[in-house]
Amino acid sequence: MNIAILGDGRLGTEIGALLGARSGIRPLMLGRPSGGQHLAPALEHVDLVFEASIGSAVQANVEVALAAGVRRFVIATTAWSDDRPHVERALVRSGASAVAAPNFSVGVALFFRLVDAAVSLYGPIAAFDPYVLEWHHAAKADRPSGTAREIVRRIVAAHPRKRGVRAPDASDANGSSDPGLVEIAVLRAGAGPGMHLVGFDAPGETLELRLTARDRSAYAAGAVAAADWLLARPRTPGIHPFDEVVDELLAAPALPEATHSTH
Ligand SMILES: NC(=O)c1ccc[n+]([C@@H]2O[C@H](COP(=O)([O-])OP(=O)(O)OC[C@H]3O[C@@H](n4cnc5c(N)ncnc54)[C@H](OP(=O)(O)O)[C@@H]3O)[C@@H](O)[C@H]2O)c1
Repeated sequence: MNIAILGDGRLGTEIGALLGARSGIRPLMLGRPSGGQHLAPALEHVDLVFEASIGSAVQANVEVALAAGVRRFVIATTAWSDDRPHVERALVRSGASAVAAPNFSVGVALFFRLVDAAVSLYGPIAAFDPYVLEWHHAAKADRPSGTAREIVRRIVAAHPRKRGVRAPDASDANGSSDPGLVEIAVLRAGAGPGMHLVGFDAPGETLELRLTARDRSAYAAGAVAAADWLLARPRTPGIHPFDEVVDELLAAPALPEATHSTH
């Protein structure tokens, strides 16, 4: 099995270490290309690519891998939504399949479902106002995180009184909130790999759901589970959500080791 990881940073390294520990696979690790773009010959005979670089590189990286003949992708990189239609078209044209998610933690995928359930319970009660907080390490490039955006997207889709999001804006001197918008607070400090909190506040009480990543192992484990899903049998060309992988994992008699932090 030939695996390549595009992106030799924290996540790419974690995925490579898990593949090595689990099945002795030594993936080809490619970092930022010196000439600005990877060369297709480097990716010939690769069965699956993990994309874990930076958002602005995703489209070019996928296209060069497609040109090299790669037909399976796990796209973990965030902040490439503007390029997503181009990437999806290129994948479909080549008959290639990808799983893409801003967060490959199975715990987070289930957290999304908890948020959906909380919105359906607390949303109809006018006293409870939802809000989102997220905290990541100081070097994180995007804000709010892709995970926070997905949480808010789900709240707005299901909430009876919210029509959008009020993203943080330091230049906004008007501190009052709009009751039709969900507020997100973003914190960038320290080294933490990710904390997301969803709250529902009412005059007399507060409900909070919080998921804190201690390290990147859950992201790597979920990305590897997505690779297993792609390699298990042919999948429809295009981009699949991680939820499809999670549904199959939940239907399995026992969750495979790869979904747990084992190192
Ligand atoms: N889906 C998930 O579960 C999940 C979890 C964690 C992180 N992420 C996302 O995954 C991405 C990587 O995260 P990270 O924490 O590993 O970041 P990181 O430590 O900054 O690593 C990114 C690496 O990619 C390299 N790179 C830049 N351009 C590249 C290119 N064209 N091809 C290959 N590599 C390239 C960078 O090199 P330079 O240092 O030279 O720029 C850097 O070494 C981010 O978008 C992050 O938000 C997703």
